[in-house]
Amino acid sequence: MQTLSGKKIVLGLSGGIAAYKCADLTRRLVERGAEVHVIMTEAAKEFITPLTMQAVSGRPVSDSLLDPAAEASMGHIELAKWADLVLVAPASADMIARTAAGMGNDLLSTCILATSSPVALSPAMNQQMYANIATQENLQTLENRGFFIWGPASGEQACGDIGLGRMLEPIQIVEHCEHFFSHKPMQGKSVVITAGPTREAIDPVRYISNHSSGKMGFSLAQAAINLGANVTLISGPVSLPTPLGVTRIDVTSAEQMCEQAIHFAKKNDIFIGCAAVADYRPTTIAQQKIKKTDKSNEMTITMVKNPDIIASIASLKTSRPFTVGFAAETQDVERYAKAKLIKKNLDMICANDVSIQGQGFNSEDNAINVYWKDGQQALPLNSKRKVAEQIITLIATKLDD
Ligand code: C5P
Repeated sequence: MQTLSGKKIVLGLSGGIAAYKCADLTRRLVERGAEVHVIMTEAAKEFITPLTMQAVSGRPVSDSLLDPAAEASMGHIELAKWADLVLVAPASADMIARTAAGMGNDLLSTCILATSSPVALSPAMNQQMYANIATQENLQTLENRGFFIWGPASGEQACGDIGLGRMLEPIQIVEHCEHFFSHKPMQGKSVVITAGPTREAIDPVRYISNHSSGKMGFSLAQAAINLGANVTLISGPVSLPTPLGVTRIDVTSAEQMCEQAIHFAKKNDIFIGCAAVADYRPTTIAQQKIKKTDKSNEMTITMVKNPDIIASIASLKTSRPFTVGFAAETQDVERYAKAKLIKKNLDMICANDVSIQGQGFNSEDNAINVYWKDGQQALPLNSKRKVAEQIITLIATKLDD
C-alpha cells in the first residue's frame, strides 16, 4: 500500500555498521510511495556506497556541503525546506552529539540545523557508547527540543556485545514513518496554549509567583505539533526549550499574558489555558526596592485581582475558540473542576490533584481527569508527554462533536 505516497523524506546516514541496512530501508520507503533523498556523511560512505543508495532511492546522493555543483542543483537549505521529515538512520553517537551541540560542519548537520520540519533519529552504536552519560544527555536534550528518537533496540551487536544500541530493523523504522505521517488528527487546526507561572512584581527586585514549571503546557505544545497543529505557546518565566516548530511568546505578568492570549485566541481554533496565572497582583509596584524597617514586624501588601484570562476568552462573542482549562486542586477535585467548567463557560477542563506527591506541579508525571458538558475521561498517571498526547487527541475528537 502507498502509505507514504508523496511524502518527502531526507534520509541522513551517519557512520555505523547499521548503514548497510539502509539500502533495504530506502527500498521499503520508496515502495510505499515516499520520495527519499539520501545524505551521507563521510563516515557513512565507509560502510555503504553512494552508488548503492542512489540506485535504491532513484535520486542522486548528496554528501558534500562545499560542492558547488551539488549546491546548485539541490543545496542544503533547499533540501532542508524540501523535507517533510528528516530521518537520521543510523544516528551514530558522534552525529547525535553534533546535533545536540547545534554544529553545522557537514551537509547532514547543516540540513538538520536548517530544517523547520520534524527530525527523527534512529540511534545505532555499541551498547556502552549508548549507555554513556554523554550520549544519554545528548538524546535527552534532543528529545526535549522535539526531536523524535526511534529506538534503539536491544540484542547482539556487530562488535559481539549484547545490549541496547542496535538500530531498529528497517521495517520498524518504516512503521514509525507511517505512524508519523498518518496520525494527524490536528492537521489544519491552530492552537494557542498558555504555560508556566506568572510573576507579579512587588518592587524592582521582588515578585509573587508559584511553583509551576511549565512542563505540562510545553508537553501540550509538543503533542499538538506532533499531531499536526499549528501552535502558539504563550509562556511565563520557565527554563524549558521551545519545542521545534512552535511559535513562542514570552511574558512575565498575568496582565501581559492576558493581552497576548486574547490577541492570539481570536485567531486560533483552540485555546488551552494551562498557565498557573496569579489570581492577584500587588496594587502598586514600588518604584524603588522596599526597605526593611525597625518600626514593625509585619508588612502588608495590598493586592488586586488579575483578569481571568480563560474566562475572558470563553466569553468572546465572536471568534471564540474551543476553550480548554486546567484546574489544579488540593481537595474535592471533581466538584471544583466541574464548577469551574460551568462558571468559566469552558468546553473542557483538565483537573489534577496537586496534593498528591509525584504528579502535577514541578513533576515529570501527571494524572488527569477530563470533564466536558456531558462526559468525562480519566487519564491515569503517566509521563506529562503521554498525558499531553491523550489530552490533545481527546480535544481533536471533541472538536467535531
Ligand atoms: O480559577 P483557577 O485559577 O483555579 O482556574 C484555573 C484555570 O483558569 C486554568 O486554566 C488557568 O490557566 C485559568 N486562569 C486564567 N486566568 C486567571 C486564573 C486562572 O486564565 N487569572
